[in-house]
Amino acid sequence: MGRASVPRPMKAWKGPDPGEPDHSADDPAARSETIKAIEDAGIDLDPLPPGHHRHGADVHEHDHPHPHVRSEGGEPPVIGIIGAGAVGTALGVALTRAGWRVHAVASRDAGRRERFRSLVEGSRAFSEPTALVEEVELIIVAVPDDAVAEVASGIRMYGGQAMVHTSGVLGPEILAPATAAGTQIGSFHPLVAFADMERAISALHGATVAIEGDDQLAALLAEMAEALGAIPVRLAPGAKAAYHAAAVLAAGGFVALLDAIAELGRVAGLDEAGALAIYGPLIEQTLGNARALGIQAALTGPMTRGDRGTLDAHLAALREHAPGVLDLYMAAAEREIALAEARGALTPEAARNLRSSLATPV
Ligand SMILES: NC(=O)c1ccc[n+]([C@@H]2O[C@H](COP(=O)([O-])OP(=O)(O)OC[C@H]3O[C@@H](n4cnc5c(N)ncnc54)[C@H](OP(=O)(O)O)[C@@H]3O)[C@@H](O)[C@H]2O)c1
Repeated sequence: MGRASVPRPMKAWKGPDPGEPDHSADDPAARSETIKAIEDAGIDLDPLPPGHHRHGADVHEHDHPHPHVRSEGGEPPVIGIIGAGAVGTALGVALTRAGWRVHAVASRDAGRRERFRSLVEGSRAFSEPTALVEEVELIIVAVPDDAVAEVASGIRMYGGQAMVHTSGVLGPEILAPATAAGTQIGSFHPLVAFADMERAISALHGATVAIEGDDQLAALLAEMAEALGAIPVRLAPGAKAAYHAAAVLAAGGFVALLDAIAELGRVAGLDEAGALAIYGPLIEQTLGNARALGIQAALTGPMTRGDRGTLDAHLAALREHAPGVLDLYMAAAEREIALAEARGALTPEAARNLRSSLATPV
């Protein structure tokens, strides 16, 4: 992974065709051929006369440009966000504060819609995505990973629009069902833990945002990331799942580790706040050492010294008082022994002794 290799951010959103409605099905020849094939198959799709188009259940007799709300030349695109959850709401607020125009949100939940509207001044709230797509130029899909395909399959974009999702593991192609001629798809994944809105917005400063999309869209997304104070990066093809798994270890995995530390702290008579107060500085010092010296050199503890007696004492205490932490401790110890060996801190015999303690049955 390297710093974004995208071209310099462009100054304004120039979608591929920001003019007239541009669905491929509007090509008269292709359209009549398709309709004939459908009729031959005995399917009545109630096709609209030329020049007409639908807005949900309503039929408009005359074409008019979509989306309805457009950016002026020199301005960033008008944004709509699908999903008023943790990421959608925080991005809506952060982008608005950065001067980008967040015009609409789509959320199925009335309470979340209202919250979004109160946080993002002037925004419109829709209960379903189709109405939002009529309005905006850049659509951000911020729904759970497993719901992205379903959301995309219920939408058809207009020419000139772009759509991105915020998933760290899915590629842009998951949005393909929503594409039409002259549309673009991509992804915009901030490497931030969205546990609390204001803390997440602050954390966007200096965080990386992994972006995908063709060069023009990627340039726009890079500009959007930079407007949030973040650093845009483009990942090597095929790297996204590993990149995201590392992020999950760094966030959720680290919280699991903290939980194990707190459980052992309870055995030692500490409550959660006490454990965080005592072990927090040690964690920060270790992170500081790793940054300054490298990961291998930051390793300390019994596994670097070959202290089998200490390891045995720990294992006995865990078996007796905190059996739920044992697997995690042993998995970490395996990795520590390998690191210490690679650093040349352990003789092969010392490493063998430590491993045989780990392999000793209860
Ligand atoms: N949380 C993080 O720290 C984090 C960090 C980076 C990226 N991401 C990514 O951002 C995306 C959103 O995550 P999140 O944490 O914001 O999730 P979230 O808080 O659970 O919010 C998800 C939103 O999507 C809506 N939604 C849920 N299921 C839906 C469905 N079947 N169809 C349509 N909408 C649906 C929700 O309901 P309503 O429509 O009812 O409002 C909610 O507004 C995910 O792809 C995630 O991987 C998350």
